[in-house]
Amino acid sequence: MSFELQPATAEDAADLADIFVLAMHKDAYWTNIIGKAAKSDETAYVLESMRADFSNQNAICRKVVDLETGKTVALGMLLTPLELPTFDKREFGVRIDKSTIVRPGPGWNNEADEARRKNLDTLAVRHGYDAEKHFMRYKTHVLPSYQRKGLGTLITEHFNSIADEAGRPTYARTRPKSTALFQKLGYRVVEAVPVDVPEYSERGDGTTDVFLMKREPGAPNLPE
Ligand SMILES: CC(C)(COP(=O)(O)OP(=O)(O)OC[C@H]1O[C@@H](n2cnc3c(N)ncnc32)[C@H](O)[C@@H]1OP(=O)(O)O)[C@@H](O)C(=O)NCCC(=O)NCCS
Repeated sequence: MSFELQPATAEDAADLADIFVLAMHKDAYWTNIIGKAAKSDETAYVLESMRADFSNQNAICRKVVDLETGKTVALGMLLTPLELPTFDKREFGVRIDKSTIVRPGPGWNNEADEARRKNLDTLAVRHGYDAEKHFMRYKTHVLPSYQRKGLGTLITEHFNSIADEAGRPTYARTRPKSTALFQKLGYRVVEAVPVDVPEYSERGDGTTDVFLMKREPGAPNLPE
């Protein structure tokens, strides 16, 4: 199989939203927020969030294409420091503010979503993240049937080289499934936060962890 990392554009938003939903299908943290909301509502919500990413000139959006099928199979996003010049030369329309995106109706776990906004959205800031100065990784998702083939590594090494060139640290909020990938590629865990996910805990104690991770510029990969 051969793959290529390519810039993603707003036209990819629907494909990328589908990949997100499939990749996060069994993720305890995300599933708890979705609650009992309909799949179609979840997809529509994620799609709006993707559109907001594409309207943000400080977001670098990448996709991975399977060159044999032409299918997009993975995505990754990187928020660049606001004080640095824009990296991508895309055309931008009106900026969509994510906080204005209407959440899915019946079934959505508003309480968990509020807790996410209140506690976890400020986690990185509590540990020194400054949007003016630092990079932030987000939305790293690989279609389940394409996982463990090195695509998460491909995306992460690409973004690491951008941060190295700029000489700036990168933060990421990760889940248990992705922490090893980031650790292998120069990130260290800054804080692990247990989050209540009563019905979805993968370890059976009613909680799951969200990790704040940070990579200093030039940090080496762990030895093989
Ligand atoms: C996490 C994710 C992005 C990893 O992508 P990937 O393409 O499978 O990762 P790679 O093949 O490059 O794996 C690199 C290394 O990460 C680690 N890793 C990846 N998936 C892992 C898993 N499920 N369990 C444990 N370690 C894992 C391994 O050390 C792996 O190296 P190895 O295959 O040589 O052992 C992918 O599994 C995914 O999309 N998961 C669901 C969505 C998600 O959790 N996204 C992250 C949000 S922070």
